[in-house]
Amino acid sequence: MELFYVSLLCLFVLLVSLSLHFLFYKNKSGLAGGILPPGRTGWPVVGESLEFLSTGWKGHPEKFIFDRMAKYSSTVFRTSLLGEKAAVFCGASGNKFLFSNENKLVQAWWPASVDKVFPSSSAASSSKEEAIKMRKMLPGFFKPEALKQYVGIMDHITRRHFAAGWDNKDEVVVFPLAKRYTFWIACRLFLSIEDPNHVAKFADPFDLLASGLISVPIDLPGTPFHRAIKASNFIRKELHAIIKQRKIDLAEGKASPTQDILSHMLLTSDEDGKFMAELDIADKILGLLIGGHDTASSACTFIVKYLAELPEIYEGVRKEQMEIANSKAPGELLDWDDVQKMKYSWNVACEVLRLAPPLQGAFREALADFMYNGFSIPKGWKIYWSANSTHRNEKFFPEPLKFDPSRFEGTGPAPYTFVPFGGGPRMCPGKEYARLEILVFMHHLVRRFKWEKMIPDEKIVVNPMPIPAKGLPVRLFPHKA
Ligand code: HEM
Repeated sequence: MELFYVSLLCLFVLLVSLSLHFLFYKNKSGLAGGILPPGRTGWPVVGESLEFLSTGWKGHPEKFIFDRMAKYSSTVFRTSLLGEKAAVFCGASGNKFLFSNENKLVQAWWPASVDKVFPSSSAASSSKEEAIKMRKMLPGFFKPEALKQYVGIMDHITRRHFAAGWDNKDEVVVFPLAKRYTFWIACRLFLSIEDPNHVAKFADPFDLLASGLISVPIDLPGTPFHRAIKASNFIRKELHAIIKQRKIDLAEGKASPTQDILSHMLLTSDEDGKFMAELDIADKILGLLIGGHDTASSACTFIVKYLAELPEIYEGVRKEQMEIANSKAPGELLDWDDVQKMKYSWNVACEVLRLAPPLQGAFREALADFMYNGFSIPKGWKIYWSANSTHRNEKFFPEPLKFDPSRFEGTGPAPYTFVPFGGGPRMCPGKEYARLEILVFMHHLVRRFKWEKMIPDEKIVVNPMPIPAKGLPVRLFPHKA
């Protein structure tokens, strides 16, 4: 009898376990009958974050993607990143799907680390809502008429930058200089700060902020995440003081309503006639300074690197830029038409952005359960698109490691394959601004110098932007004026 009860109990336990397993399994699959993309979710909590981040630290972020594309599927695989269940969409069709389904099936998502470093100041709204407001406001600042005006200002700052940081030097370290360059331009165009000492005061905390942004969100003294939060608080305080002063200057007629993005933000109301709170403005300027600073400086650094390695490409860029330089009167600033003539230089810059995209990709969140390529993607899952899944894929770019700016001639790469600025409604709003500052930088660089790398095989680290490990020291050979 006892045996009977024990057997009954065992059967009961077995049935319950099977039902639980079935329920759990069904839940895991998300959609009735659908199967999740192939892949592995790695360790509890951290998932595959360490593999994801460490391939970048070793300079090969594409390895994480390509290893899994080869092992599981070339279109989509499952993983777990930064504490979240995630699917990585690969290739041009993955990019097309995500960029075309923005706010329908997917929406932008940032890792917890980003939300904590950029907590929304207005208690009523999330950083997501704030980003939507910002998105609506930016076109005014980045519209073509505005951009046309920026070329001369950028040229003016660029001349000062080269005079202060490069001229009369035998050797320079490029990455810190490129950061100073893009930051100086941003400070001038966003905040009308032109004094290099004032710019320098901001610059250091920005470095800490950028490197802690995409990190494991552990807020303990010494972690990159902790340092990023501290830096973000410091910068916001500084920005807040600048905003308060600007309000006074605008009221007293000492500042102009159109002089920079700060005036633009202070004087633009939303559909309900409401103006933005000072702390919100500080957050938004902070976001723009981050978005526009390290990305473009990474691009400028890799331009210097590739031009040092490829003398024939350097000669092509110099020829184009010297023709433009020779068409100008002494001291005359570059204008919009000059930049439109820099076609070869921009093809070279695009090839650099293909091989060393400053942003490796971005996250989305599934708004509902949906099917993709026969696999089910459950609501709430995070989805990652990766620039490298097309940029370094021979299916889209034959001989992907070869530096070949002619890929961008004519109609250029196929749609959704060249995506350094993303695509669809969330495509980088600073794309044109970045194009201008990169081209103005190239103009002054090749006009003044030829150079050689001082560390021939300098390692590349991607954290989260790609940079040469020692900052790219180069020896300069100035051209005769
Ligand atoms: C070479 C330079 C740059 C590159 C490669 C770059 C790339 C990108 C990428 C890939 C995205 C994400 C798109 C997505 O979520 O799918 C993005 C977003 C963004 N970028 Fe850029 N960017 C650059 C320069 C700039 C500049 C100069 C600014 C501002 C002046 C800027 C402001 C922004 C902003 C505000 C967003 C967020 C847009 C949104 O969420 O709707 N970026 N950028």
